Amino acid sequence: MSNSVRLLLVLLILTVIGNNDNARSIVYGVVDEYNRDDFPVDFVFGSATSAYQVFDVNSCLYIVDFEVNVCNCAMINKVEGAVLEDGRSFSIWDTFAHSGYYNGANGDVACDGYHKYKEDIQLMADTGLEAFRFSISWSRLIPNGRGSVNPKGLQYYNDFINKLISHGIQPHITLHHFDLPQVLEDEYGGWLSRKAVKDYIAYADVCFREFGDRVSHWTTINEANVYSIAGYDMGFTPPGRCSYPFGFHNCTKGDSTSEPYIVAHHLLLAHASTALQHGFVGINIFAYWFEPYTDTIDDVKATERAHEFYVGWFVNPLVNGDYPEIMKKNAGNRIPNFTKLESERIKGAFDFLGVNHYATFYVKDNLSSLEMETRDFNADMAAITIGINDFPLRQFVVMPMSLQKLLNYLKEKYDNPPIYIHENGQVQPRNGTLIDTPRVEYLHAYIGAVLDAIRNGSNMMGYFVWSFFDVFEILDGYESGYGLYYVDLDDKELTRYPKLSAHWYAGFLKGKNMSDILDNMDAKETLSSTD
Ligand code: FCB
Repeated sequence: MSNSVRLLLVLLILTVIGNNDNARSIVYGVVDEYNRDDFPVDFVFGSATSAYQVFDVNSCLYIVDFEVNVCNCAMINKVEGAVLEDGRSFSIWDTFAHSGYYNGANGDVACDGYHKYKEDIQLMADTGLEAFRFSISWSRLIPNGRGSVNPKGLQYYNDFINKLISHGIQPHITLHHFDLPQVLEDEYGGWLSRKAVKDYIAYADVCFREFGDRVSHWTTINEANVYSIAGYDMGFTPPGRCSYPFGFHNCTKGDSTSEPYIVAHHLLLAHASTALQHGFVGINIFAYWFEPYTDTIDDVKATERAHEFYVGWFVNPLVNGDYPEIMKKNAGNRIPNFTKLESERIKGAFDFLGVNHYATFYVKDNLSSLEMETRDFNADMAAITIGINDFPLRQFVVMPMSLQKLLNYLKEKYDNPPIYIHENGQVQPRNGTLIDTPRVEYLHAYIGAVLDAIRNGSNMMGYFVWSFFDVFEILDGYESGYGLYYVDLDDKELTRYPKLSAHWYAGFLKGKNMSDILDNMDAKETLSSTD
């Protein structure tokens, strides 16, 4: 199956395609003219990547077969003891990619950030980034998942962090970005086992001990909700588990009815213990904004259910000590209970929420799914989410009010938690153009929405564009890109080229007014839709 067909399938199932004529019109009420100085001084602007998507060279180029001393990709899964560069071992994302999911594409080389980090950090500094969000590869730092620390991995991250700091860029570290060490998946089933909690806590401890003197912003788990749903119910992200009839593929292993809830439970326990271990620690969740498909009370209630299932699943335990009542009711004994002690420990165990927001969905009631004898997360949610985007997904519709509404919802419902927007950005086909005007429009609108949210009293701490480069993407490998910089994969130097959006973001970060930046960009006329 080609990647585009696969992406199409994924989106088809994820989003029952709605008739856009029925879509309710959303008012673009966001501030248009602003500059960096309009934001609080301690609010940080940055950009982001993650380890497997950009940094982790474990290319066949570097896999050494000791017997014949040649490099051979095919050996990855066959040669016992194959050594990946500088001692890194496979993560579940390597395995997922090497299983052929991306039609042969993988993150073996990606942008070769592992070797090019010095020039990349220079590029970040030139762009004016105040902060950079990246993830540590657990299997590079602790190749056996637990136990001894890989000195080369340690050295690499120390150098990386020091370099960022020497350029005045604040490091924001994510400890887990879809890349659990494969050894732990093999040994006890990864996050399905409570043993992962213990190993994760020990890994986090190493990171705090080794880097905590220079790093103060830590995120435990990237997209804890997506990791659980997409990885264990639908099977389209690592470790790719699901069960009939719920998955997007014929998964060979999994149980979509219960595994997402078990995994989420363990992620929360791991997060909470980690948050109690150290300074400024948060968790990251993926959040759509949901609008009711119609004004009927059923759709309005279904929309609230969707928020509870996607966001409340993680945020309610952190704020109130337990899962949302509706989840407990609908998932029954498939959702684990917190003991009294666990609940007390989890409540309040976060210093901030990381929010990844890209798009808006409509929600239609589907209470009849509760009559199904076998149910997964979606059936328990009893709602259908309907994509609003152009189809196939080649670009998100720009709806900055959705971000404002989401931030307002979190403020009202969860007592105004400190929030970082950890990911936000526009998708486009990867080998398109450097004149990425739609991305400029998108960023211009959504950063304006963040400013409005601040003015409306949301406790906003920072904003990160996804992504600094076009990276190896979780859904479709190298087919789409979100980057401010294009990386030429056909050039063996993997040269980076700034897109229009990189110039735009740099202009903004360097304090220029919107109109000045736009005046100096050829693409001004195409920005009229947000003017
Ligand atoms: C998010 C992931 C991130 C990236 C974006 C597009 O789900 O956190 O790694 O791939 O989607």
